[in-house]
Amino acid sequence: MATMESLIGLVNRIQRACTVLGDHGGEGGSLWEALPSVAVVGGQSSGKSSVLESIVGRDFLPRGSGIVTRRPLVLQLHKTEGGQAEYGEFLHAPRKKFADFAAIRKEIQDETDRLTGKTKHISNIPIHLSVYSPHVVNLTLIDLPGLTKVAVEGQPDSIVEDIENMVRSYVEKPNCIILAISPANQDIATSDAIKIAREVDPSGERTFGVLTKLDLMDQGTNALDVLEGRSYRLQHPWVGIVNRSQADINKNVDMIAARRKEQEYFATSPDYGHLAHKMGSEYLAKLLSKHLESVIRARIPSIIALINKTIAELEAELDRLGRPIGSDAGAQLYTILEMCRAFDRVFKEHLDGGRPGG
Ligand code: GDP
Ligand code: NA
Ligand code: MG
Repeated sequence: MATMESLIGLVNRIQRACTVLGDHGGEGGSLWEALPSVAVVGGQSSGKSSVLESIVGRDFLPRGSGIVTRRPLVLQLHKTEGGQAEYGEFLHAPRKKFADFAAIRKEIQDETDRLTGKTKHISNIPIHLSVYSPHVVNLTLIDLPGLTKVAVEGQPDSIVEDIENMVRSYVEKPNCIILAISPANQDIATSDAIKIAREVDPSGERTFGVLTKLDLMDQGTNALDVLEGRSYRLQHPWVGIVNRSQADINKNVDMIAARRKEQEYFATSPDYGHLAHKMGSEYLAKLLSKHLESVIRARIPSIIALINKTIAELEAELDRLGRPIGSDAGAQLYTILEMCRAFDRVFKEHLDGGRPGG
């Protein structure tokens, strides 16, 4: 298990290197695209940001009614040794450690406004945030603007399509694991998340269905048809969630209290009691991390092949520039090359370690 976790950590580091240093790979697929990630999709206010926060176990995302998430947020979770302080770090502000998660939320808002203005417009350019904490599972998650059906005041009419195209550009990649969020207080047949997931992943093999707002369903109704896979069948089990309500947020109910309340909700529910061990945010985080590990493990040979292709291309490029390396570009290429060689070694160790009997 320890080995498997560090595999995700390794992929996290490559993804980070690709973003910092530029994605090398060219034809035949880039390294970044070969690596799996998890994208959170759903209609506006379906609870996407709330689910992400529960997975991380901290309050740090702008949330609320209307269009709040207006740029993709690429969130890399790095599990650190116990006893270490938690902090976040943005790609656009390297070396600045955010120990205060309220300051992280403010920085996300400011950085969103920096590109879009204080408007209801959206931008395709992602914000990259890394969170280092002993309490997270190793995961890369992408929060996306919510799908919507109509433009609101101040938005261009094209926004409905713009958001859909942005979301599609993430979820259509075969390596994207889709976290499809639907609220339980709306008919699942009208779910924006399921609509787009079905379009790009008809067999449901890379879609995880998440049903939020179970606490807001009409009295006397329940979501068993969805949670037990009868309404819309996916290859992975559906997970039900109870996030904090807007009233909870206004009262500053903290994450620990919210998780406890969620667990109690399922444990004592006459409808969902028998499913309690497979419900809730903590279960969802573990399920995703486990799935991501197995996906990465299955891809090790192709990741190694891509790393080697990248190494060969970098070496050729360095030869063209001529050694010893004088220019900044040369020095940067050399850094990437060294990193690729290191990744190659570690992945091969995992491959050897993963052999039956090994
Ligand atoms: P997003 O737009 O999809 O990112 O949704 P948010 O996470 O910002 O949530 C939108 C609103 O719905 C907020 O006011 C949340 O408090 C509320 N909300 C989200 N999930 C739940 C839930 O499971 N139960 C309740 N009661 N409210 C929720
Ligand atoms: Na919202
Ligand atoms: Mg959001």
